[in-house]
Amino acid sequence: EARELILAFETSCDETSVAVVENGEHILSNFVATQIKSHQRFGGVVPEVASRHHIEEITIGIRKALTEADVTPEELTAVAVTYGPGLVGSLLIGVTAAKTFAFAHHLPLVPVNHMAGHIYAARYVEPLTFPSLGLLVSGGHTQIVLMKAAGEFEIIGDTRDDAAGEAFDKVGRVLGIPYPAGKEIDRLAHEGHDTFNFPRAMIHEANYDFSFSGLKSAFINTVHNADQRGEQLDRADLAASFQASVVDVLVTKVLSALERYQVKQLVLAGGVAANHGLRDALKTKMTRFAPQTKLVAAPLALCGDNAAMIGAAAHIAYAKGDRADMSLNADPSLEF
Ligand code: KG4
Ligand code: ZN
Repeated sequence: EARELILAFETSCDETSVAVVENGEHILSNFVATQIKSHQRFGGVVPEVASRHHIEEITIGIRKALTEADVTPEELTAVAVTYGPGLVGSLLIGVTAAKTFAFAHHLPLVPVNHMAGHIYAARYVEPLTFPSLGLLVSGGHTQIVLMKAAGEFEIIGDTRDDAAGEAFDKVGRVLGIPYPAGKEIDRLAHEGHDTFNFPRAMIHEANYDFSFSGLKSAFINTVHNADQRGEQLDRADLAASFQASVVDVLVTKVLSALERYQVKQLVLAGGVAANHGLRDALKTKMTRFAPQTKLVAAPLALCGDNAAMIGAAAHIAYAKGDRADMSLNADPSLEF
């Protein structure tokens, strides 16, 4: 069997990543340069700063990804790139680099949706089978996606306001945790208990949509009111209570989607899929659907933004015949 080697680019937000993926299933290299330190003092990602970092890192990334994979440009099958959704200035660096590389080496160019990439990170645990449902939770998205076949995505549930990761980050700011706060809240939550009983918005509504802004406000008000009384609340309990509410809503909604759609797999992916509370709760609750439906959680190391997941998604897109030419542009609000 021929070796299919895809050089994949991911620059949608604040990680510059270049990977070489073989046959959509083996990661030969996955260079990831994170810019978190540069954005932390601003409390979030500054688009202009992000673009400048991508420019500095992208050629280094190409060289390192190819060297580590021990692959020459001549051996490559195709070039793949995230063209949306994300920050337009950040996306453009990856898109321009990928187009340039593909043009220079006469390689086909495969356009990839960033969210499809997140889902395909789970491919490194086991092959994806269909139909399946995806729970996509990141800094910008909170979606339940129905996949009837490979490369087909239908959003059946979405957030009405904040994304789950966004809520983690905003609540983290109130606790003085640097951006992005998800990982630290996850750690703190492990040491506390759900003593605050924050709201679980829309949990019993007959749809698969979410809302996290009320939870965020409830959290912020609780902390501010305590501040005014000169009272110090337990940070671990605050974190545990917040996380319990997010996890409860996500799990309840996805389980009700699983009741309605009989699927072979539930794919958990996106930055927030790294959350231990969420992973553990889903793992426990999913036993109810075994063995018909299996939980496939993206590997911890590949939950955040990376190009290896783009390479895995590109393998499917390439087989389907998805191609872009030199007119490919970034699409910041790209949907499935
Ligand atoms: O997918 P991602 O890397 O970037 C986007 O496409 O948005 O997701 C980043 C988000 C951030 O909001 C971050 O706080 C959150 O994922 N995150 C977590 C955890 N690790 C990262 N949220 C909860 N628990 C975690 N362990
Ligand atoms: Zn992402």
